[in-house]
Amino acid sequence: MNGRASPPAAVLTGLGGWLPPRVVTNDDLVRRLDTSDEWIRSRTGISRRHVIDPGMSTAALAVEAGALALKSSGGGDVDSVIVATTTPERLCPATAPLVAARLGLTGVAAHDVSAVCTGFLYALASAVGQIAAGLARRVLVIGAEAYSTIINPLDRQTAVIFADGAGAVVVEAGSPDEPGAIGPMVLGSDGELSDLITIPAGGSQQRSSGQPARPEDHYFQMRGRDVYRHAVERTTAAAQAALERAGWQAGDVDRFLPHQANARICSAIGDELGIPAERRAGNIDRVGNTAAASIPLLMADTVASGLLGPGDRVLLAAFGGGLTWAATTLTWPASAGLRQPTHPGSSTA
Ligand code: COA
Repeated sequence: MNGRASPPAAVLTGLGGWLPPRVVTNDDLVRRLDTSDEWIRSRTGISRRHVIDPGMSTAALAVEAGALALKSSGGGDVDSVIVATTTPERLCPATAPLVAARLGLTGVAAHDVSAVCTGFLYALASAVGQIAAGLARRVLVIGAEAYSTIINPLDRQTAVIFADGAGAVVVEAGSPDEPGAIGPMVLGSDGELSDLITIPAGGSQQRSSGQPARPEDHYFQMRGRDVYRHAVERTTAAAQAALERAGWQAGDVDRFLPHQANARICSAIGDELGIPAERRAGNIDRVGNTAAASIPLLMADTVASGLLGPGDRVLLAAFGGGLTWAATTLTWPASAGLRQPTHPGSSTA
């Protein structure tokens, strides 16, 4: 014993999710792509998704979800805003300062996190670190994506999977033993496989190459089959490591909330972990893969549907481009704000 007090934990106190009103069904996609409702449902588990209207972009989605999370946490200020996104407003500057300003939080720390579909958990880890280091006592963590702006409408492999939306949480300094405390976090990456998920054009690599970009290189590209295999292996390993660090067995998990990459990937991971189907949460059928927004949107949906409540032991895990992966655990808190019903219309909080 060195007598030092343990650093404060980040405790979940607020949650909000927001989806743009426009719904695109599989049948809508069939009208413009060589695909079918049956193919999309059987290979991805998706039946519809939400997409922004022209003129809307990531910051607007982030502000909606962020405001709902702040409200559910009782309002008030935060010391730091973190936005995880694959679709920043612009290449420079970051989106988070703009989101903070629109939320009336000018002056607070604000930065973006770029880890594609793992972005929310990486952003949460950043919040955990800021709180543990005493840099912040209350942090707003947002995952927001306008994927429809980076998806090639002619690429049937990606156009059927990815969609728009935003989810957010508020975490506050508290005790590691209290419900809502974010557990040990496992983070990893493998940049040797950075070509599996990429937007090749627009960054310094392409700009300094002297080569003009092909039009399709401005869009998100994915080697789907390779991604599938790595997603199952890496997410399972990260989730197992997070369980071990928390001192939990798979059987202790009341609710597994995996990043909604693809329904088949989620069930393969659940099977590998030995978590039965009835303890897994999913909403990909209604929202598609919303990348960094996926986990907080799923949290909000699962609470709203009554499948996640106080005392539930929760496992979160994600995988994405980079490659990146992450996982953590928490016991669901009882705070009133986290039990709000689904927000009417297009949002979930
Ligand atoms: N509609 C109809 N056919 C499609 C299609 C679509 N939307 N997309 C691809 N196909 C075709 C392919 O062209 C291929 O045809 P071919 O055999 O004539 O060449 C066939 O379906 C099988 O393609 P394949 O890529 O092997 O299919 P799959 O079973 O692996 O499913 C994905 C494709 C993209 C659904 C799957 O690879 C996947 O889910 N990958 C991971 C995606 C993901 O989760 N990414 C995010 C990670 S965070």
